[in-house]
Amino acid sequence: CGIVGYVGPKQAEQVVLAGLRRMEYRGYDSAGIGLVDTAGGAGDSGRIAWAKKSGKLANLEKVLAESPLPPATTGVGHTRWATHGAPNDVNAHPHLGTEGRVALVHNGIIENFAELRAVLEADGLVLASETDTEVVSHVLERELAAGPGTLTEAMQRTCRQLEGAFTLVAVDAHDPERVVAARRNSPLVVGLGDGENFLGSDVAAFIEHTRDALELGQDQVVTITRDAVEVSDFSGAPSEGKAYHVDWDLSAAEKEGHDWFMRKEIFEQPRAVADALLGRRDATGRLMLDEMRLSDQELRDIDKIIIIAAGTSFYAGMVAKYAIEHWTRVPVEVELASEFRYRDPILDYSTLVVAISQSGETADTLQAIRHARGQRSKVLAICNTNGSTIPRESDAVIYTHAGPEIAVASTKGFVTQLVACYLLALYLAQVKGTRYGDEITQIVNQLEAVPAQLQQVLDDAPAIYELARQHTGARSILFLGRHAGYPVALEGALKLKELAYLHAEGFAAGELKHGPIALIEEGLPVLCVVPPQGRDQLHDKMLSGIQEVRARGAKAICLAEEGDERVAPYADHVVRLPRVPVLLQPLLAVVPLQLFACELATVLGHDVDQPRNLAKSVTVE
Ligand code: G6P
Repeated sequence: CGIVGYVGPKQAEQVVLAGLRRMEYRGYDSAGIGLVDTAGGAGDSGRIAWAKKSGKLANLEKVLAESPLPPATTGVGHTRWATHGAPNDVNAHPHLGTEGRVALVHNGIIENFAELRAVLEADGLVLASETDTEVVSHVLERELAAGPGTLTEAMQRTCRQLEGAFTLVAVDAHDPERVVAARRNSPLVVGLGDGENFLGSDVAAFIEHTRDALELGQDQVVTITRDAVEVSDFSGAPSEGKAYHVDWDLSAAEKEGHDWFMRKEIFEQPRAVADALLGRRDATGRLMLDEMRLSDQELRDIDKIIIIAAGTSFYAGMVAKYAIEHWTRVPVEVELASEFRYRDPILDYSTLVVAISQSGETADTLQAIRHARGQRSKVLAICNTNGSTIPRESDAVIYTHAGPEIAVASTKGFVTQLVACYLLALYLAQVKGTRYGDEITQIVNQLEAVPAQLQQVLDDAPAIYELARQHTGARSILFLGRHAGYPVALEGALKLKELAYLHAEGFAAGELKHGPIALIEEGLPVLCVVPPQGRDQLHDKMLSGIQEVRARGAKAICLAEEGDERVAPYADHVVRLPRVPVLLQPLLAVVPLQLFACELATVLGHDVDQPRNLAKSVTVE
């Protein structure tokens, strides 16, 4: 989501709307604004004036044009990417407390919101929306009313009760010139002005007003007034932010300094994977999927799974097949959505159809699930876009929580789809009892280590860029993989086709000798996803494949785990990956391939975010 806060001499509505306009790429499900109207209140205190509307910012602007808000110089704004609750007017931000004294906007996921909500409801409070944010607005207002202190202290006390990742920004009608924000694991920056100050999810929120910014640390609360900025930790102890000067232009600001949204999204993957994993375990450590909506009995009755998807999402589905079959022993088919219904697939009530779609709007996938439901099958969507058509038409949904993906080529969408697929597989294993709880916990722990490992891979980006620059003259590039590395090879090739307009093919390494090896010629680059060294023979077999192509003159670029010394003698270049089990390796192995394609296309001068002939979501069959 995109967040703006302002206090100063200017008209807050204009400042906030302009900030939201530049942050619309962070979410466009709904938008809202809350102002402290000092003329409308009694005595010194004001009242909150607000407006919010589902859909793009233009919808909110229309509402404001028809029924203008009173003039005000303090305000907050929000452009939403829905996580909890549908993207409608009621769920839009800001959310007001019971007495309408505080207005709150929020980005992130409050993991313990159900417990907090239960406490409020036990007190007789009726909540208006389905959001975790509204829960926090009531908690905050209660803390403020109970005292002691200002909105700042109330925010500190509130944050101590919250679990999860969040940025919160709030105003208090009784204290018109104070905006208070907090952050944990979610972005927030302060814009330092002259007689005015700003808050934003990123500098795009205020870059036209100031280039002096203050970056906040983890678990900090910040209070801005016209002339001061004060930082504390959640316990109230004074703290400091890190000041810096922004030298980006406006368009780079939206991309947080990156040249492309794609590159920004590649670098957001540690965060995205962490968000995709948030709130998936209950207090006892068991997996819970709150949007699942299928009963345990319905899940136990499933004897076959068919995964349908298109493009990059299809490759996530291929990885899912390995994981689901291995952990649950339920047979899985993976099928291109566009092929599915035309072959008269065998479906009944005991078949679970899993539709994977980042956008939730792909027509091929939508038609496929309609066909499946017509045959009485249950459909579960894995989707990144809350309230989009595919989850709406499905029986159940797991949201991937990657945040909006702007670049046409999917990156963080893909890795979070993988996470959702693993969670689904493990959840099925838990319900069906095909795996012990301890083993499931161990795998979830391994998944929770992935964000840090992704960061490690990203820290090596410069070496991948160098590799990409060495290959700008290539006419063709091949990708090889085995097991869960095979779909990664296909995805690596797809990225090159999409972005660099280069001939690229992915093959199962074992299939090489049955045909593709005829393509190998002197100097042909072959990217090899080497499986982790394990007890099975996967690793050995992959090494044989690499030797076969090298013997025929190919150049082997190998993605191999740390400590894999056996690969080096056969490789022209080794890219190291942190060690993970083979089923989880796609999460890490895909990243160098994304970086490679992005950099190669950049050097070739192509539009990485909007490649020729492609669309982000294809709504025709
Ligand atoms: C389009 C995009 C691809 C995407 C595919 C599936 O072709 O260009 O990047 O993978 O659609 O999209 P979905 O939103 O259903 O995952």
